[in-house]
Amino acid sequence: MLKPPSLFLLLLIITITPLVTCSITLMSPKDLVDQTCQKCANQSKILSYPLCSTSLPVIPVSHSANLQGLALIAMELALENVTSSIETIDKLLDDENVSSIIDNLKDCMELYSDAAWTIVNSIGAFLSGNYEVPINWMSSVMESASTCQQGFGKKGEGSPLTTENYNLFQLCGIAVCIIQMSNPAAKAS
Ligand SMILES: *[C@@H]1O[C@H](CO)[C@@H](O)[C@H](O)[C@H]1NC(C)=O
Ligand SMILES: *[C@@H]1O[C@H](CO)[C@@H](O)[C@H](O)[C@H]1NC(C)=O
Ligand SMILES: *[C@@H]1O[C@H](CO)[C@@H](O)[C@H](O)[C@H]1NC(C)=O
Repeated sequence: MLKPPSLFLLLLIITITPLVTCSITLMSPKDLVDQTCQKCANQSKILSYPLCSTSLPVIPVSHSANLQGLALIAMELALENVTSSIETIDKLLDDENVSSIIDNLKDCMELYSDAAWTIVNSIGAFLSGNYEVPINWMSSVMESASTCQQGFGKKGEGSPLTTENYNLFQLCGIAVCIIQMSNPAAKAS
């Protein structure tokens, strides 16, 4: 299995982020995060404003970011999340008490490992100016989170990964929303 992407990559992305500032924002960074999160939560009932507005300011670069920068931050956060969730699943797989759900956990491990690379590739595509591709890929990661959760039962009861799946789903949903908003070709929305 491929190793999940490293912190090095995150640092690289954070370093690159200021280069992507091509539109001028007249709003303060805090207002930009607040307004963006509000818009996303308004547009989509499944997205959580509180999660969005508390997650995005975590990485300091967001304090000087525009929409492109925020989109990258959302993807970085999703990547960080997925990477640490892989460690969580790894630990669960070592626990002999989980034998009844071992197959589900293995499925989730595969979904999450693929998801990590999908997010890395989405970031790459976004940095090279593509909007549609990262939207599709980040949406597919949302589906992976749902698939992992539903593997433990229709409503996900019995899932030890409920929080992980929820966070990943939300962060990817927020990323998709912000990528859409930051697309210069879709300014009207
Ligand atoms: C989001 O919806 C609320 C309530 O409908 C509204 O007050 C607010 O202005 C909307 N915010 C944005 C950024 O669209
Ligand atoms: C995953 O994302 C959520 C929402 O931003 C955050 O609360 C949580 O701390 C993150 N977990 C990790 C391990 O990064
Ligand atoms: C497994 O279950 C037993 C009995 O419920 C418990 O004592 C033990 O601590 C558990 N092991 C782990 C690694 O959680």
